[in-house]
Amino acid sequence: MPTAKLAPAEAAQPILNPLSTVAMFLVLTVEDGGESAVRDLVPDLSAYARAVGFGRPDAELACVTGFGSAVWDRLFAGPRPAELHPFIPLDGPQHSAPSTPGDILLHLRSETLDACYDFADNVLTRLGGAVRIVDEVHGWRYKDVRDLLGFVDGTENPEGVEAVDAALVDAERDPEFVGGSYVIVQKYLHDMTAWNALSDREQELVIGRTKAGNVQLPDDALPKTSHVDRNTIVGPDGEEQDILRANMPFGSFKDGEFGTYFIGYCATPTVTEEMLRNMFLGDENGNRDRILDFSTAVTGGLFFVPPTGFLDDPPPAPDPGPDAQTSRPAPPHPVPPAQTEPPAPANPRPADGSLGIGSLKRS
Ligand code: HEM
Repeated sequence: MPTAKLAPAEAAQPILNPLSTVAMFLVLTVEDGGESAVRDLVPDLSAYARAVGFGRPDAELACVTGFGSAVWDRLFAGPRPAELHPFIPLDGPQHSAPSTPGDILLHLRSETLDACYDFADNVLTRLGGAVRIVDEVHGWRYKDVRDLLGFVDGTENPEGVEAVDAALVDAERDPEFVGGSYVIVQKYLHDMTAWNALSDREQELVIGRTKAGNVQLPDDALPKTSHVDRNTIVGPDGEEQDILRANMPFGSFKDGEFGTYFIGYCATPTVTEEMLRNMFLGDENGNRDRILDFSTAVTGGLFFVPPTGFLDDPPPAPDPGPDAQTSRPAPPHPVPPAQTEPPAPANPRPADGSLGIGSLKRS
C-alpha cells in the first residue's frame, strides 16, 4: 500500500488507541537464520489479530509491532527509517539506563489478557526457534490509571491532532514511512519499601503532581528534580515537545518485582532521548530525576513501528550475500524448542502445543 498517500493517522498501526485495561510487552531477538521465518510472518500479523479479535470484539485487541535497528537490514531490502538507530545507553553519576537486546517489540493491548495470550500463542508458535523471547511483561491497569507508586500516569499525554503530531512520522520528516513511529521502552523496577517510607508530600515533590487530586504543583513549588520538570522540554521554537506514553504497571509477589513498563511513542527518537538525558544525566546544575532514586531501569530498547501498509506488504528480503550459506536456516514451523541443553531454550514451549504440564512435560 502506498503509505505516502495516506495521512499519518490513517497509515499508522494502533498507536493512538486509548489506554487499554491490560497489555503484554514481548521483546524478541531474531536468531541467525531465523530472518526468513520472521519476514514471512510480517504480512500475516493483521490476520492473527483479526482471527483473535473477530469473535471477541469486546476484547479490543490491538497489536503494535516494532523493529530494532540491527534487525531492520536483516529483514527488509530498501530504504531504512531515517532516524532508526540502537537505543543509546546512559551512564549518569548515580543512575544508568542500560541498552538491552531486542530486535522485535510486540505491544499487545486489550481489555482481556486472554486475547493477548491467544495472539502471542499464534505468533510465537509459528516463529518457533526463529526467535528468542528476551523479555515478557504482563501489565494491567491499576485503580484509576495509577502506577504502583500511587500516582495517576498519563494525564499530560497529548490528544487528538497533538497526539498525531507528537507520535507519528509525517511526509516532511520521512516520505517513505508516513504514519510510522519511534518507540522507546524501558522496564523499571520500583523500590516500594523506600518509596513507601516517604510521606505523601515528599512523594508529590518527587513526581511534581499531587497524589490524590493529580494536579501539577505550581511553578514556584515544582522542584527542578521532579519527574514532571525533568520531562517538560521545549523545542527551538519554544513549543513544548510531547511523546505519547502507554505505561503499564506490573508486579510479581513471587519474584518481588514491582514496576512500570515505560513505553513512549514519538515522531522522532530525539525527543524521548532528550527526556532520558534530563532524567539520568541532569542539567548543568546537577538536577536529575528523583524518581530514579526509587525506580531502576533494567531494560532499554528503541524500535521503529512502520505503517500498517508496510507490514501488510513488506519489501522483499535483502540480498543474502556471500555469507548466506554459513547461516543456520530457521527450522520449519511449528517447531520444537531447542533440542540441546545447555543452553536452555529461550522459548520453552513444547512442540506438541501443550503448556508443558503433567505427563506432556519434557523431562
Ligand atoms: C518509573 C518509570 C516512570 C513512571 C512511574 C512515570 C510516571 C509518571 C507520572 C505519574 C507522571 C505525571 C502524570 C502524567 O502522566 O502526565 C508522568 C509524566 C510524564 N512522564 Fe513519566 N514515568 C516514568 C518514566 C518516564 C520516562 C522514562 C519518560 C521519558 C523518557 C517519561 C516521560 C514523562 C512525560 C513526558 C510526562 C509528562 C510531563 C508533563 O508534561 O507534565 N516518564 N510520568
